[in-house]
Parts: sequence; C-alpha cells; structure tokens
Amino acid sequence: MMVLGSNFDELWPSGPSPEVVIVGAGAAGLFAGIEAARNGKRVLIVDHAKKPAEKIRISGGGRCNFTNLETKASRFISENPHFAKSALARFAPWDFIERMSAHKLTWHEKTLGQLFCDQKSGAIILMECEISEISKPDEHFTVATNKGTFRPASLIIASGGLSIPKIGASGFGYDVAKQFGHSIVETRPGLVPFTFSGALHDRFAAMSGVATPVSVTTKDKTRFSEAMLFTHRGLSGPAILQASSYWHPGEAITLEYLPADRVRSELTHARNTDPKKRVTDWMVEYLPGRLTADIFGETGLRNQIGTLSNADIDRLAERLSAHTISPTATEGYRTAEVTVGGVNTDELSSKTMESKLCEGLYFIGEVVDVTGWLGGYNFQWAWASAHAAGQAV
Ligand code: FDA
Repeated sequence: MMVLGSNFDELWPSGPSPEVVIVGAGAAGLFAGIEAARNGKRVLIVDHAKKPAEKIRISGGGRCNFTNLETKASRFISENPHFAKSALARFAPWDFIERMSAHKLTWHEKTLGQLFCDQKSGAIILMECEISEISKPDEHFTVATNKGTFRPASLIIASGGLSIPKIGASGFGYDVAKQFGHSIVETRPGLVPFTFSGALHDRFAAMSGVATPVSVTTKDKTRFSEAMLFTHRGLSGPAILQASSYWHPGEAITLEYLPADRVRSELTHARNTDPKKRVTDWMVEYLPGRLTADIFGETGLRNQIGTLSNADIDRLAERLSAHTISPTATEGYRTAEVTVGGVNTDELSSKTMESKLCEGLYFIGEVVDVTGWLGGYNFQWAWASAHAAGQAV
C-alpha cells in the first residue's frame, strides 16, 4: 500500500530509513515505487507539489489516455531511437492493463493519494517536500529536504519535464543529471499549439473554433493526418500537436486539406459536367464553410467552375494540397503536454535506466530524452521505464 502525507515522522514514525528514494510522485515515480515495493524495497517517494499525479488527473482531457496498443519505438522521439526498445518490450501496454485489473490500481481525482498497489511492502509518498541538496559522499546518497535527510542506496529521478510549471514541473531532474556529469539533449516544448503573428494570426483567429481533417508535414517530412483546430492564437488539434514535437523555431510546416490529384480530377470533371457549379460549393463538400471562404477569398478566382483555366485548377490544387506556412512560435511550456529532449540516453542503461556515470542513480519518465507521440505513448514510457528501474533497484 502507498501512504500519502506531508509529514515524514507521522507517516513512518519509527520505520527504518528508506532504501530507495524517488523524486517525483508522477506517473513514472509512483509506478517505480510500486515496482520497487513489490520487490521488497523500503521506498520513499518525495514531491514538492501539494498533490501527487496531477498530470494523470488532467491528462487526456480528464480521461487519462494511459497507454497505446500501437506502442513501438518509432512512436518516440529521441536522439537514440533504439533506447526505448528494451524497456518498452519488457513492459508492454497489456502488462499495464493486466496490472491494473489484477491489483485494482485506480488513480483518479477523487481518491488522490489512495493509490492501491501490491500489499507486500510499504511505500510512502511525502508531499510538499523540497529537496535542498543531493550528494553521494559514500555508497549511499544524501538527500537533504525540508522534511528530513535520507540516505538511500538508490535514487530514482522521476521529476518529469518542464511542461506546465504551474502544477509543479521543474528543471530539477536536469540539474541533478548535470551535477552527476550527465549531458542534456536540448529541451523544447512538444505536443503544443502553434502561434502565428501578422496576417495569418488575424485570419486564423477569425476562424477560431473551426476544426478540419488535415495532413501536416514537418521539415523532416514527418507527416500526421488527424484533426486540426483554428484558435484565437493560431493552430491546435491533434495533427498540429503531433507536428509540434518535430518542429524547430524558424521552420515551416505544410498543410494538405485535399490531395492535389483529387482536386485536379474533380474540378476538371466538374468543368465539363457541371460548369455552373460554384467552386465554393464544391469546396464545402470537403472543408468547413469558414475555411472555404478564407481560402477561396485569397485566390481571387471567379466562383464558377466553368470559368477555371487549367492553370487556375493547378493553383487551387496547390493551395489545397501544399499550403506552406511558418509558425511564429509555440504556446510554450505553459500548455505543452510534454518536453522533448532531456537526460541523454547514451549515459543511461536501456535495461535498467541506471546512470552509467553514478551507481545507484536512475532517471525515468519524461525527464529522459524519450518523448512519445500524442495518444498514450508518454504514459506507456513512464510505466515501462519505471518498471525497468523499479525491478533493478
Ligand atoms: P510527471 O510530470 O508526471 O511527474 C513529475 C513529478 O515530479 C510531479 O509530481 C512534480 O511535482 C514532481 N517534481 C518536479 N520537480 C520536483 C522537485 N524539484 N522536487 C520534488 N518533486 C518535483 N500522456 C499520455 O500518455 N496520455 C495523455 O492522455 C496525456 N495527456 C496529457 C495532458 C496534459 C495537459 C499534459 C500536461 C500531459 C499529458 N500527457 C499525456 C503527458 C504525460 O502526462 C507525461 O508525459 C507524464 O505525466 C510524465 O510522467 P513523469 O512521471 O515522468 O512526470
């Protein structure tokens, strides 16, 4: 069982000191705590926030998209695309589903803190715990906090990335990594809406709330076909969030509403069979009305299919199939669902997540340079990396 509180002496009055300290009571930290406790370890999870697992609570629009059955390494971004394979293979989505039903693990808002797991061993979660210093003077770590000083043999850093600072995100994990000689793959916000300035901003804002299917292609030719949403600041929706994880400032993205061949063949056919038909009436068969008006307004064409020349059709095909635009920025960590980049995987064991530079130090979850696509992949990485470390400590 896991016990939650903010006072260590009350939680664990005369208990022996923890063998494993985990920093971060998010998805990865809690799951690693469960795994290590199942293996008979005395575990203490510390977190500076008031409540644990806040991201699990707010994730998936409140419904927590906790895994994805399509999990494979190619759905993750990392400098080393192979790193995640081992942990993901040893703890797959079905393992998590099985575990949930077998142990009645339920993490949801109403029962914050009552996180049920295998009953064999004790793990406690200490909230509002500020860590002032971490060192390793001998074979044990020293973790000095406002709730006491702990001397575990193993220290698991599960403090997540930088996204959503208002619910506790911090760069703590990167600082610990650097302290012990690790390098950090440059971090940037991922799964985040794009913002635009100038004329595009005004046009997109005017269509705020309009959603449409689209294929978005990034500079490195990664392509996502999902919904896109116009917002008062720019573009969002699943296709855009996915693309944002592959985007770097200054790069363009290309939007395809309809394949060029289809535009050409349908308009050429309609020019013969239905020349009086309005171009916009044909477009609204595929696109929302406000988007149709915006795109067609820009072309300056006459609104009758019979009047279109081949060059006009080509222009429209180009505009609907390959509209290249440059986002000004993203909404940043304030709204990003994940942080791309993190602790360099070259310096971690892919089997155990242990540091290759400091024995007993582990990094798991989002703090590591492994970032999943939208759709449950990030939680699956949290579970899988936590499982790997929890088994090893
Ligand atoms: P996580 O960020 O969950 O936990 C880190 C913990 O460390 C926090 O509790 C924090 O307070 C604590 N901490 C930080 N600094 C500390 C310090 N200095 N001292 C002590 N404690 C510290 N993923 C997915 O797969 N499906 C989904 O549906 C969603 N939906 C979603 C929605 C939104 C709005 C967001 C922001 C994110 C998602 N995600 C998601 C992503 C997913 O939530 C994320 O990848 C995981 O929560 C990462 O788990 P970690 O445990 O690594 O970090």
